[in-house]
Amino acid sequence: MDKKQAQEKIAELRELLNQYNHEYHVLDHPSVPDAEYDQKMQELRKLEEEFPGLVTADSPTQRVGGEPLDAFQKVQHNVPMLSLGNAFNANDLRDFARRAAQGTDDPISFVCELKIDGLAISLTYENGTFVRGATRGDGTTGEDITSNLKTIRSIPLSIKEKETIEVRGEAFMPHKSFVAMNKEREAKEEEPFANPRNAAAGSLRQLDPKIAAKRSLDIFLYGVGEWEAGTLESHSERLDYLKELGFKTNPEWRKCETIDDVIEYVEYWENERPNLNYEIDGIVIKVDNLAQQEELGFTAKSPRWAIAYKFPAEEALTTLREIELSVGRTGVITPTAILDAVKVAGTTVKRASLHNEDLIREKDIRLGDTVVIKKAGDIIPEVVRAVEDKRTGNEKEFFMPDECPACGSELVRLEEEVALRCINPNCPAQLKEGLIHFVSRNAMNIDGLGEKVIIQLFQENLIQTIADLYRLNREDLLQLERMGEKSVANLLKAIDTSKDNSLERLLFGLGIRFVGSKAAKTLAEHFETMENLQHATYDDIIAINEIGEKMADSIVRYFAEEEVTELLSELKSLNLNMEYKGPKKQDIDEDSEFSGKTVVLTGKMEILTRSEAKAAIEQLGGSVTGSVSKKTDIVIAGDDAGSKLDKAQKLGITIWNENQLREVLNN
Ligand code: IVH
Repeated sequence: MDKKQAQEKIAELRELLNQYNHEYHVLDHPSVPDAEYDQKMQELRKLEEEFPGLVTADSPTQRVGGEPLDAFQKVQHNVPMLSLGNAFNANDLRDFARRAAQGTDDPISFVCELKIDGLAISLTYENGTFVRGATRGDGTTGEDITSNLKTIRSIPLSIKEKETIEVRGEAFMPHKSFVAMNKEREAKEEEPFANPRNAAAGSLRQLDPKIAAKRSLDIFLYGVGEWEAGTLESHSERLDYLKELGFKTNPEWRKCETIDDVIEYVEYWENERPNLNYEIDGIVIKVDNLAQQEELGFTAKSPRWAIAYKFPAEEALTTLREIELSVGRTGVITPTAILDAVKVAGTTVKRASLHNEDLIREKDIRLGDTVVIKKAGDIIPEVVRAVEDKRTGNEKEFFMPDECPACGSELVRLEEEVALRCINPNCPAQLKEGLIHFVSRNAMNIDGLGEKVIIQLFQENLIQTIADLYRLNREDLLQLERMGEKSVANLLKAIDTSKDNSLERLLFGLGIRFVGSKAAKTLAEHFETMENLQHATYDDIIAINEIGEKMADSIVRYFAEEEVTELLSELKSLNLNMEYKGPKKQDIDEDSEFSGKTVVLTGKMEILTRSEAKAAIEQLGGSVTGSVSKKTDIVIAGDDAGSKLDKAQKLGITIWNENQLREVLNN
């Protein structure tokens, strides 16, 4: 066989094998016996051995070829992978529908999907070939786990169209594989995995793809990330298209026209859930129309166009032995139940939050009670109620103290708050919690300065405020237990290095109420220096899209405090950086035709590629979005522009052709 003949044969075999694979792993409907598949695979392997130059990364022989890695590479998600807000009952769902209806004019349809309990994954295809798969990570940066994902047989190595597209879904371990794997692990005296989600995550984080290959993982795709050429108008069309391309989508999704239909779907699956052969932890509800999705937009944390309904959690019984009180970073006193150890939803629980005194009274929870424990959102243990029938008469009522357990000052209850607070700004427990937050990973990220060291520094009276941290010297630190010359030197270096952190880390570290790490980043990007933010008014802050009223109010109040001004000037004189160092929003030409405008590109362009056009418009201060809504300012239509152009005409939006765009760009 010469090379040309081999090439043809190889192409033919690959197509057949891809088809068999799709039928077996995606459609669950094989058309040939396994032996035939194996025989064709063998034939392909032999040919590829003979003509190694013809091996390609997307050949069916390459699923488990990868060598073990030393570490995973980081992958940037250009379209962030967000998480969803939660709903726990029908009322929450109705609220969600009401809010959505208020944010858009036309009636809304929803798509309901099963919420698969696995690991969010992004898959990138370039010109139809699978090139990269990544974990969600923190939503903006994930890890490249391409070799492990290639071992999942339902992931196509090439798709039916030569699309460049990033698709998203959930990798999971089916029940059957989970039970089998744990049995095997127990036989080998290895620790079994607590649940299928941990098992899936554990498998995909193996550096050796051969291990992932043995774990029989699967994946359902439910969304699209980056997709320049995307023209579809609804989520349901996208689900259909994903299936058409050869991806495995979950067949149980349903389009619902009303929130009552959504609730019916939710109730149906609450009962049917045990009959599935994979784990689900709720239902995801999405606004179907993509233009409406865009109109509704996002809060700092999650989209306004989707919500996750969480099924009620598994419960267990145990005894409440004691109630411990702790003082948080903002002075709130939190009672915690100390429990006899009990297993709930896969882990052992010994402590559970009781939230506040009102809740203890309301639920009439007493020391010594038998209590029902559940895990809220299947993660955080919670005391649900006391079991009155089991009382012996020896149970004791619990009362909150009048004084702070840490500093002894009188506790207060602020207006409209249920929590008791210690309002002493110098309460050591609050300062300590504040410092633990300040040095933490998402804040100033000071290596070697964990909770234990902070507690020691407090006990030895070496620090009281954030500023004190930057005044520590070698002699101070050498006094601490288990601190030798080397660790002291390392710690001092880490503290010193943190001075150069970009502004958002310091902002988050300060612990301003309601300002999380994402909001801190937004603020830093927008205001660029601490000084600008200190002088910003409520109106300046609220003008930022992602910042809500509560947060803006809290920021203004925070910077109005005299102690804060003092602390910041102290930190400045200690040489802490107070400027944003991240990528600058591009220097924008304010007089440009596109400044502040929302632009949609549609149809085929002749001279510019779509990404060139997009980059140029953004450079001139415009933002380019994917679908037409009443917020769109300009639609630029190339040849064969379809429904987006129709819609723009209907809405009376300014429409340009490619020549007009080029003219503006040339100027
Ligand atoms: S949509 C912005 N659909 O649930 C839309 N998520 O908090 C984001 N998940 O991180 C996700 N099944 O890991 C979506 N059918 C589904 C899902 C699903 C499971 C997970 C996903 C995400 C989390 C949402």
